[in-house]
Amino acid sequence: MTLPIVSTLSNLLTSITTKSSESDVEKNLVLPLLHILDYEDEDWHEQMIIGRVRLDFQVQPQQAVTPYPPYLVIETKAPSKNINRSGWQINGYMRRSGAILGLLTNGYRFRLLYNYHGQVETIQEYSQTELIKKFNFFRSLLCKNSCLKVISAFYKSQDKVHVNFLKLIAKKISDEDILNIFTNKNKPGYRDINPEEKSSVVQLKKSKSMIITVFNNKGGVGKTTMTINLGAALSKMGYRVLLIDIDPQANLTTGLKIDPLTDVEYKDRKDITHLLTEPKTPIEETIFSKKWDNVRLDIVPSHIRLSDMEIELSRIIDVDRILAKKLKKYQDQYDYVFIDPPPSFGKVNNISLMASSAILIPTQLAPYPIRALEYVINRAVAVDNSREDPLPILGICVSMYDRAATKQTLDMTERIREILGKKPESKNLSLFPDKTWIPRLTIVANSPDKGYPLCFAEFDNQLNTREKETAEDAFSCYTELAKYLISIT
Ligand SMILES: Nc1ncnc2c1ncn2[C@@H]1O[C@H](COP(=O)(O)OP(=O)(O)OP(=O)(O)O)[C@@H](O)[C@H]1O
Ligand SMILES: [Mg+2]
Repeated sequence: MTLPIVSTLSNLLTSITTKSSESDVEKNLVLPLLHILDYEDEDWHEQMIIGRVRLDFQVQPQQAVTPYPPYLVIETKAPSKNINRSGWQINGYMRRSGAILGLLTNGYRFRLLYNYHGQVETIQEYSQTELIKKFNFFRSLLCKNSCLKVISAFYKSQDKVHVNFLKLIAKKISDEDILNIFTNKNKPGYRDINPEEKSSVVQLKKSKSMIITVFNNKGGVGKTTMTINLGAALSKMGYRVLLIDIDPQANLTTGLKIDPLTDVEYKDRKDITHLLTEPKTPIEETIFSKKWDNVRLDIVPSHIRLSDMEIELSRIIDVDRILAKKLKKYQDQYDYVFIDPPPSFGKVNNISLMASSAILIPTQLAPYPIRALEYVINRAVAVDNSREDPLPILGICVSMYDRAATKQTLDMTERIREILGKKPESKNLSLFPDKTWIPRLTIVANSPDKGYPLCFAEFDNQLNTREKETAEDAFSCYTELAKYLISIT
């Protein structure tokens, strides 16, 4: 990058302060930036109304092939606003307008988005320093010359150009996952692509699924809510996810809008009880596949009758291993399987743990749940000792913490560390880093009634702007948790 551009860009960035307004970001940063990218004033439209919302910038040079949608849309926020809460707006603009690229910025963070047939994903996010470092790529992607070239190529063959363009971006940012996210046929939740594209697709490495029981005998610590949204975050990243509801309360089932009576029983479909008691019923006969935009979750539903089945279950030979045996056949079909058990130490908990390759322990930062931790760890260690394969505990993750209660947070994390410290068998066991902690938020508490993972809130017209922002904020915590989980598994 030439020096004058570096210094111009640095000057523009230093003009932004925490006190700047959204219009300061537009005037002092975005407009000059568009000029640096070689656009002229008539190449963009400001404050476009799309649907019921207002878009800050739509970049569509007059020379571009006209019937084609805009190349780039830009949404600006004030620096005081967290862009993690505002993605739903630009995602909506991009889907409605068909824009290929999106830029969301508050002057400090710069998020680049790509729209592949309505599937909008982040391809890169930069801080100011990273933007300066990566400006060559940023400029080559967003500049007018690229815009005109890509738009005219799109006019001729949309799909081919999409794939080639994505391949180029993936190569430039050395991240093949970008291509996977949009085009991997093997992963659920994504559109089919044509045969020509298939050959260029990077295939998922075949590997065994990670089967995780989200375990804590203390009731109401957020196991089910975490299972649903963690699963959704992993699916959004392109992983294949199966959720197994083995809790007679069937909260996971109903929380994803599957009614154990009307959707399962009255339709003669099978659920977890059939899976556990009928040796010949394979998992696929019990699966419900649900899709919310680009998230797909396969779900084995539960049923209240599971609560009366302890005796029936104990009569089945080798019942503890029944789920483990059935899941074995699906090792290649899912990247992550999450089992959501009831808050007890009953038979079904044993069945879940015996089927798992690891345990995740969620806890609230409150005295009772923390006291329960010791028992949970003991139980996990006991099951570990009774198995041939080890059953590692991935760690303790935090659900429903109070963002305002700093003192309580410190006290409680200290207590957790003490508990972990005094257990020799848990020497490798740790509390997950605080960026993965899930805050207590009303939008999360209300989500079971909605019947969708939180990432789908952006499509819910019954929610207001604030609610959508909070849902996005909450989901970004589940995404951090998912990323951390990937890093340790
Ligand atoms: N981050 C959160 N913020 C606010 N409320 C939450 C959050 N996570 C979960 N809840 C709410 O807390 C309650 C308990 O959550 P959840 O059902 O997920 O816990 P659980 O551990 O699965 O319970 P159980 O032990 O009964 O299975 C629910 O009403 C849920 O909506
Ligand atoms: Mg539950």
